[in-house]
Amino acid sequence: MNTSSVNMLHHTQEQGLALFNAAPKHSQHRQYHKDLSPLSWHLGHMAFIETYWIREIIQNDKRETAHLHDFYLPERSPKTERGKTLEAQTGLEHWARTLFAQNCQRLASLIEGHDPHPLLRDHYVLHFLIQHNAQHLETMRMVLQQQMLGEPHGHYKVAHPLEARPSATPQIHLSGGLIHLGHNNNAEAFDNELPHHPVDLKAFKIAAKPVSNGEFLGFIEANGYQEKCYWSDRGWQWQHVFRANSPEHWYQNKEGAWYAVGLGGPKDIDTESAVMGINHFEAEAFAHYAKCRLPHEQEWEHAMVTNSDIAASTGESWEWCKNTFYPYPGYRPFPYERYSSTWFDDQHFSLRGGSHHTEAMIKRASFRNFYSPDKRHIFAGLRLAQDA
Ligand code: AVJ
Ligand code: FE
Repeated sequence: MNTSSVNMLHHTQEQGLALFNAAPKHSQHRQYHKDLSPLSWHLGHMAFIETYWIREIIQNDKRETAHLHDFYLPERSPKTERGKTLEAQTGLEHWARTLFAQNCQRLASLIEGHDPHPLLRDHYVLHFLIQHNAQHLETMRMVLQQQMLGEPHGHYKVAHPLEARPSATPQIHLSGGLIHLGHNNNAEAFDNELPHHPVDLKAFKIAAKPVSNGEFLGFIEANGYQEKCYWSDRGWQWQHVFRANSPEHWYQNKEGAWYAVGLGGPKDIDTESAVMGINHFEAEAFAHYAKCRLPHEQEWEHAMVTNSDIAASTGESWEWCKNTFYPYPGYRPFPYERYSSTWFDDQHFSLRGGSHHTEAMIKRASFRNFYSPDKRHIFAGLRLAQDA
């Protein structure tokens, strides 16, 4: 368990370095989207956060981290400044690589020495750091996606055209009742997944699969982006300013054929695969067009734990839920207040499942993601639900 978990931490570190190094040098410190820090900041932040918890908090030694708080603690450093500092410009990779290796060794020996620090109980800090890094890896992939969107893609010839489909209605009936939600292992959970608790759920229907690209094209072709009746007031305000007419990374070539731009550049859009690149407003509008609604995250989690076909259908695209991100009854902030509490502000909606760009270790039924409803850069789509 301990050595394999340290290997997992190592694996996330290697991937962070690989994502950083695969990007062209000129792009590593650039900010490509107002909500996304440069790749270099993410790599540095991963190394900093590891060192902060291991050295500063557990081993009570601030020497390696004290001078970096203002830069790598998100609440202290404006995103627009994050490409500019010394660590970001010289020796960042070497610095991160050195800390990564030291952190793996330090954790292995703390665990082996049965260090009594509470954060080491059941290897909590190791699970936390692995999953923290994992989330930043996905964010680095968002940066790479934004970089690709900004690059000229010339004429892309579509081999297999995307086909519009009517929207399928939810087929799986779940009877609800008294169910249990949340993570049942405190050492492997984020604070917002705890405590494991009972919820009384009404019967509902949920789709066996997320909404597909073909179904989303059906919405576009039915003028879904132009029909006010499908949109919430806030959604329509957003649409009034933004004037979206497709998922963020979809384009039409000069013959009018749809294609997408992914991390590897332009590509065909598969009719059957889950749609992504839409925000909560668009997801909601699609659900209204389909005479359905988004699932509450409680319904979503219950569906995932009770139905293995549903569980097998997720993981290509995050699924926007109906509700805003909220604390479970008995929630306790851990290991720090800001990890979740700041986001229980009614301005963030929950997302469930995981995308094609999400690391396996955070793809689980109880994992809760959260973003504000206007975000389109996060690899998210939706699944339909209805009252029973
Ligand atoms: C839960 C993915 C929205 O990336 O801002 C990373 C996770 N928290 N470092 C984010 C997180 C602190 C968070 N998300
Ligand atoms: Fe972080």
